Amino acid sequence: MSQIDLRTRMERVLYSEEAIARRVRELAHEISEDYRSRGFAADAKARPILLVCILRGALVFLADLARQMTIPVEYDLISVSSYGNGTAPGAVRLVKDLERPIEGRDVLIVEDIIDTGYTIEYLRRNLASRDPASVRVCTLVDKGARREIETRVDYIGFELAEDAFVVGYGMDYAELYRNLPFIGVLKREHVG
Ligand code: PRP
Repeated sequence: MSQIDLRTRMERVLYSEEAIARRVRELAHEISEDYRSRGFAADAKARPILLVCILRGALVFLADLARQMTIPVEYDLISVSSYGNGTAPGAVRLVKDLERPIEGRDVLIVEDIIDTGYTIEYLRRNLASRDPASVRVCTLVDKGARREIETRVDYIGFELAEDAFVVGYGMDYAELYRNLPFIGVLKREHVG
């Protein structure tokens, strides 16, 4: 199926390719300056911050964000999954762990979207228990209307007030639409 076909399934474009590129650049600049002001990248021996990509949705965002950062970064990948029905609400399990220990590292978790908050809160606690120097969170989209538990988010690309089903730029519906270069709202007839 071509990308053209997938575009016709959108009710509307929420964030265009250009708007995302602009916001990602701004965000990368803001984050870089923030860490720089705390002494990062002050000398060549400084340990780079570690970007942790939550698979799979955040992959596209991480790739663009990392390339716009103006301080040295490393990255690693982690994967989690929500338990299905019949378990405690918000239960999350680790599917693929990081490749390396993060003790003493400055970690920035990179997420595509925060919805109920369960995934990011689980990961924040999980990574914080490994004695990193710091753990911060960056999300491209913050869907505050759907939040079920309180969780701290340090850097936000777009605040989405409405409860719209969004896809594209890494985000899927039944694994499709991740490669769309924009973020759009799927027509109802294509959901469910
Ligand atoms: C999405 C998204 C977040 C999570 C947010 O991942 O990438 O990780 O849901 O939801 P929450 O705040 O309600 O926990 P998903 O489980 O769809 O997997 P994917 O990243 O592979 O698409």
